[in-house]
Amino acid sequence: MIDAYNLHCFLSVIRQLLDTPEVQSMAQWRHHFDVTCYEHSLFVSYIAFRLARFFRMDYYAAARAGLLHDLYLYSPYDPTSHPGNQCFYHPVAALHNAKALVPDLSPEEENSILTHMWPLAAHMPKCRLAILINFSDKFCATLEVLKLYHLLRVRDAMPAASYNH
Ligand SMILES: [Fe+2]
Ligand SMILES: [Fe+2]
Repeated sequence: MIDAYNLHCFLSVIRQLLDTPEVQSMAQWRHHFDVTCYEHSLFVSYIAFRLARFFRMDYYAAARAGLLHDLYLYSPYDPTSHPGNQCFYHPVAALHNAKALVPDLSPEEENSILTHMWPLAAHMPKCRLAILINFSDKFCATLEVLKLYHLLRVRDAMPAASYNH
């Protein structure tokens, strides 16, 4: 699923953003079972990058939006860390943090982050990039929940976070 050539191309596109303390800090929170928010976001970013290249779309924007789509930066399991329902609230928090980290985020990237939970959340995708991120997120989440993430050795193929607990 993850070959050396495509991984090299992907990392050369996303490396600078991947190494930021904000993105690295996602490694402290579990997202789907034992898959961390960092691992999930990196997986979504990679799949979105590959699909965007296949469909001749903006693969840089796809990799960026994929990496930032869950940048909510709090424990999803601590109800005191965020107001309201996690499903509805976390895309709003992720967009807020993504805009602070990347001031030149495009309207398409912003819409991709805000709508990635649709139809489970209120905001609907309004562009091709948002549909691509929405699909990539659901594809990766499914593989993670079904434990295929481990079977396919995705964790072993991807760069580990340097974040220390
Ligand atoms: Fe999410
Ligand atoms: Fe996600």
